[in-house]
Amino acid sequence: MNLLVVGATGTLGRQITRRALDEGYQVRCLVRSPRKAAFLKEWGAELVRGDLCDRTTLAPALDGITAVIDAATTRPTDSLSIKQVDWEGKTALIDAAKAANVERFVFFSILNAEQFSAVPLMEVKRCTELYLAESGLNYTILRPAGFLQGLIGQYAIPILERQAVWVMGEMSAIAYMDTQDIAKFAVRALKVPETAKQTYPVVGARAWSSYEIIRLCERLSGQDAKIAKMPIGLLRTVRRIARFFQWSWNLADRLAFTEVLASGQPLTAPMAEVYSTFGLEPQDTTTLEAYMQDYFTRIMKKLKELDYEQSAQKQAKRRIPF
Ligand SMILES: NC(=O)c1ccc[n+]([C@@H]2O[C@H](COP(=O)([O-])OP(=O)(O)OC[C@H]3O[C@@H](n4cnc5c(N)ncnc54)[C@H](OP(=O)(O)O)[C@@H]3O)[C@@H](O)[C@H]2O)c1
Repeated sequence: MNLLVVGATGTLGRQITRRALDEGYQVRCLVRSPRKAAFLKEWGAELVRGDLCDRTTLAPALDGITAVIDAATTRPTDSLSIKQVDWEGKTALIDAAKAANVERFVFFSILNAEQFSAVPLMEVKRCTELYLAESGLNYTILRPAGFLQGLIGQYAIPILERQAVWVMGEMSAIAYMDTQDIAKFAVRALKVPETAKQTYPVVGARAWSSYEIIRLCERLSGQDAKIAKMPIGLLRTVRRIARFFQWSWNLADRLAFTEVLASGQPLTAPMAEVYSTFGLEPQDTTTLEAYMQDYFTRIMKKLKELDYEQSAQKQAKRRIPF
């Protein structure tokens, strides 16, 4: 099977590429910057320059391809909007895949997308799910809730650096999953015929609230977190102001996501049947505790080594008389 990965430089896309290469797939990656994607080439993937927002690049990228895994999404740092990339770009990719007679198409949506029509990214995901279902393609839709990888910057680093950890009152608990584990589901979908024309959640064993994650990080780091509360009302006001100016529409669309977190509704789903359908084992999935434990063990070891090196350098300096 010749696989095209879209979004392969992203947090999830790179894990999908790694996993697919490890499983022996011929992997081609559609990338906007081959220089930035050089690591994928080193791993053994073929790179093809393209952009979801440039339709003319899609047909050549799909030439000879039998399966597509799409893990792309708008970068918050990009000038392109959610509508341009996640709607116009994705529908263009689906059309091109259909025209290229692609046999399997895996798409990443977000858990509970249908419940938040006022949140632009959720609404776009829901509409793309429908577009894909009507495309005639043999699709599989996977719906994660959140990635463990995001928790390092959000909680672990600020706690270690004694910086503020921002929380929004009682935020919804989220069943985070490691992107390496999500990648297993995406690649396995290509081999399990029952997953065609189906939608599945891909979430961790249980939903974690912000405070539970903070307490875990405090325990593992031995440091107290400085918790700073961001009132939801303030975020809503910033969003309303941002909607006035075209240059900040992207920011406003992203701030809308706070409505999902403020709903108080846990982002989680039962996974037993999903594991069984994909032939994967729940016990092989990394838990949030294990992921954080591993991170703090490695970082603490590094900090100790640095401390040791610095005191060794100081001692050596003291020994030099001039
Ligand atoms: N992050 C989460 O917690 C989360 C939760 C639920 C679902 N998801 C879904 O999971 C998928 C992967 O998310 P992620 O966080 O791994 O994404 P990410 O790290 O932000 O990466 C986005 C990827 O999309 C590519 N991309 C952006 N605009 C593009 C364009 N116009 N043409 C071609 N490629 C483009 C980026 O390429 P460049 O390197 O060139 O920018 C990058 O490879 C997405 O569908 C997302 O909606 C994510």
